[in-house]
Amino acid sequence: MAKRNRREDEVDVPVDIDWDELRAAATEAMERAYAPYSRYRVGAAALVSDGRIIQGCNVENASYGVTLCAECGLVSELHMSGGGQLVAFVCVNNDGETIMPCGRCRQLLYEHALPGMLLETVSGIRTIDEVLPDAFGPRDLEEVAR
Ligand code: THU
Repeated sequence: MAKRNRREDEVDVPVDIDWDELRAAATEAMERAYAPYSRYRVGAAALVSDGRIIQGCNVENASYGVTLCAECGLVSELHMSGGGQLVAFVCVNNDGETIMPCGRCRQLLYEHALPGMLLETVSGIRTIDEVLPDAFGPRDLEEVAR
């Protein structure tokens, strides 16, 4: 059987996440979104393993499919500001309400997640493995002959 990418008991995330602070950072990011086509502004924020908070907003395009989700900007900011792993994540809509990251963005987040990374979701606090079970990830590529 193929190996799993991550063991369920491999959880390094601290329990005392300040979700209000993260949601406020996501809401601030949402206010900078460029969403003239859908008019659906999204802001994302994450706590990084070294304690910093990073943000991202969606950036749409006249060629609709080129649109960048808020999570894309966030992951770029992760690398631009020093790297590390994502500990906790939330994204919000125009009204500052928590929304689910789209499927593509769950994959994007998974790549950079600390094992056991937490997300605030519409159904409460969940782990990255709960919102993207049996994910395809970096470990699947480890034994490929190059
Ligand atoms: N959007 C995000 O930024 N992140 C998500 O996880 C869901 C969708 C954006 C893309 C588009 O600009 C708008 O929301 C409507 O789909």
